[in-house]
Amino acid sequence: MPIPQSFLDDLKQRSDIGTVISGYAALRRQGRTSKCLCPFHSEKTPSMVIYHENQSFYCFGCGAGGDVISFIMRIENLGYIEALRFLAERAGMELPEEEREDPILRIRPVIYEINRLAARFYHDCLKSEAGAPAREYFASRGLSSKTITKYGLGFAPPGWSNLRDHLRKKGFTDEQMLQAAVVVRGKNNSCYDAFRNRVMFPIIDLRKNVIGFGGRVLDDSKPKYLNSSDTPVFKKSQNLFSLNYAKGKTDRRLILAEGYMDVISVNQAGFENVVATLGTSLTAEQSRLMAQYADEVIIAYDSDGAGRAATSRAVGLLEAVGIKTRILNMKGAKDPDEYIKKFGAQRFKLLLEDAGSVTEYQLSVIRAKYDLDTIDQKSAYANEAAKYLATIQNPIERELYAGSVAQDTGVPAGTILTRVADIRKRMSRQAQKKEWSDIQQGKSNLPAGVSGTRSIGAVQAEESIIAGLFRHPDEADKLREQLTAEDFVTEEGKAVFGIIIEKLQQNSSVSLSDLPADLTREQMDYASRCYARQQGMELSLQVMTDCVRALKEYKRKESLKSVTQSDEEAIRMAELIRSRKK
Ligand code: UTP
Ligand code: MN
Repeated sequence: MPIPQSFLDDLKQRSDIGTVISGYAALRRQGRTSKCLCPFHSEKTPSMVIYHENQSFYCFGCGAGGDVISFIMRIENLGYIEALRFLAERAGMELPEEEREDPILRIRPVIYEINRLAARFYHDCLKSEAGAPAREYFASRGLSSKTITKYGLGFAPPGWSNLRDHLRKKGFTDEQMLQAAVVVRGKNNSCYDAFRNRVMFPIIDLRKNVIGFGGRVLDDSKPKYLNSSDTPVFKKSQNLFSLNYAKGKTDRRLILAEGYMDVISVNQAGFENVVATLGTSLTAEQSRLMAQYADEVIIAYDSDGAGRAATSRAVGLLEAVGIKTRILNMKGAKDPDEYIKKFGAQRFKLLLEDAGSVTEYQLSVIRAKYDLDTIDQKSAYANEAAKYLATIQNPIERELYAGSVAQDTGVPAGTILTRVADIRKRMSRQAQKKEWSDIQQGKSNLPAGVSGTRSIGAVQAEESIIAGLFRHPDEADKLREQLTAEDFVTEEGKAVFGIIIEKLQQNSSVSLSDLPADLTREQMDYASRCYARQQGMELSLQVMTDCVRALKEYKRKESLKSVTQSDEEAIRMAELIRSRKK
């Protein structure tokens, strides 16, 4: 199903890469390029560059690159056609008719309808006679009927086919139900209900579509929660529970809890700006989603070990997208739901106001491990705290917190800071060592399949040739006389060179954004890297010819090397045989 070139041209015309990317990151324009924090990896200083003249981007940190379509595919986690659709919608265009026949796109409205009817069904079951145990369960968890209605909570009755039979009667096929993940295929090929004897939490997106479900057992059996598997309308990693309610109530501040019940309790207690992930730990996509609505997130995870580990992870992900984090320091309850039940909404509000920085939180977690009445424990605490303080980049912050450790332990702040400085020195030596060994092992940002310092020159030569072709396509014929794709060192180089030459032979243009749709992500990254790294370098035919020579020389030495190796091998074998003969 090829998409008409005229449509693609038009779409690209209306999807300026700078404008599109600025929806995800703050751009700083510097002449012909812009810079921003890379949305594809965590960083504090910008290493993504946008090249306006050829509408491409490249991140010097993580190596992600491409044109506006590959950017959208990557950041929204979409396939090629879906990315086109996404950009088309944004530009107020419509995908050509035949593309809308794509089966994935056709099934979506069906899945939404199935989900809507399923949610309705579960809710009706909750209110029916059979729903009594579930109603009791919700009551025991303190949910008001208003809350139950607000969240559309429900009950999946026991039995293998209640929902399936209901949906069949409405005219849906088992195949469609499978696609919506409300049923599962059994061993004998028949389908049965995915959720049985569970209270149900519909997951609703910002357009008020039901996109999936969470279901909890009514007792202590396992697994406690089941979540819909991913479907064409539901990606766990990209949605947040209750964002539909939190969205308008944020004041640019969100509360992030661990699960369905926490969110509903907190919401019922009057704090509507609360969301949770959907049975997985927080993802980068979810952080970016939160960044659209909040500048600050209060993390309200469970107070157990797992919750603390998840908290540290979440802090990293959220700060990477520029969100300020504070941590709820709950004592006397394992999660926000329990806290509100035990101490009430008012105390929870104070807890929210009291939520401190991640440093305060980490220090209090460390402090809680020690009994500060004994000297041994005080010194162990001071040491562990110093190790933690050493990871803080801001020296003022280090001083301030060293002061608070000093207060806790009676060790002078100066002594603690000296210890911190020692640890930092050691850390930086280790980091340097690692960086050097990465370079030597060829790990640092080299394409796959290339290792060793010797190869770096060849890789650079190859990049220059590709970049040169982008800049001077008219020289391609002369270059083609000198080398073939096989002369390239990396797999990506071979592929991209081949594609560019083919395009030129068809008299197509070869700007980065004209590369064909079937380039793999690695090939796209590679092409953008070539373009990006050779900015401001001279790339005349002479330079390219020199690069070709360097590449050939490298190849020659490599093949010599392997010949010598196998010769040595042969001699050793011969000697072995001779010695045995004696
Ligand atoms: P918790 O086990 O902390 O449960 O799981 P909870 O939120 O306190 O639930 P209640 O209070 O016992 O009802 C937190 C989240 O982890 C996911 C769910 O999304 C849940 O909301 N989870 C947990 C699962 O996906 N599967 C499980 O078996 C357990
Ligand atoms: Mn709980």
